[in-house]
Amino acid sequence: MKLGIIIGSVRQGRVSGNMATWVANAAKKYEGVEVEVIDLLEYKLPMFDEAISPQYNPDRKPEGEVKRWLDKLAEQDAYIIVTPEYNRSIPGALKNAIDLVAFEMAKKPVAIASHGSTEGAQAVAQLRGIVPAVQAVSTPVFVGLPYMDAQGMTADGTFEDAGGYRAGQLTAMLDDLVWYGGALAAARK
Ligand SMILES: Cc1cc2nc3c(=O)[nH]c(=O)nc-3n(C[C@H](O)[C@H](O)[C@H](O)COP(=O)(O)O)c2cc1C
Repeated sequence: MKLGIIIGSVRQGRVSGNMATWVANAAKKYEGVEVEVIDLLEYKLPMFDEAISPQYNPDRKPEGEVKRWLDKLAEQDAYIIVTPEYNRSIPGALKNAIDLVAFEMAKKPVAIASHGSTEGAQAVAQLRGIVPAVQAVSTPVFVGLPYMDAQGMTADGTFEDAGGYRAGQLTAMLDDLVWYGGALAAARK
């Protein structure tokens, strides 16, 4: 199973990249799961300005960075979106990147790893409303880190995880995602 871990922040000095490393390190321990970190910063995506909504445009021919982004998404069997909470929602750059999607994520599972002062809970709630719009499946379990844990995380994806509580949540989220990834991949065949 190909698992794409999307870094949802493009901010200078962002901490979401460190959290993506934490998530990726745990995901790599799963047999049969091929992990790739997909960094929004590496795609110079335009603001969505197409005349027709991607899912309603059978003649759409994406080019350049948009095509590269969509091809990368299409390669994956499952996703984890690492998102901070910005103004009680997800970052605009992440929403714009999703607005460009047609069916590349369709019938594939999406788990969420969030962070923020309330563990990014409002970003999770918003993102769970968005994911089905691109025909993807939002999985039940998410992992959220409190603001200070995310800020304290190092580039190698480690932080002071008292009692391994957050690692446990991450495992639960990954177990859930891998189950849905396998079930949906079989059903898509
Ligand atoms: C524009 C902006 C809005 C923010 N709004 C919220 C918010 O609504 N809730 C929250 O918990 N944190 C909020 N924060 C704080 C972020 O959780 C914190 O800056 C975090 O490091 C952002 O993730 P990043 O470093 O990966 O970009 C906001 C930060 C920014 C830059």
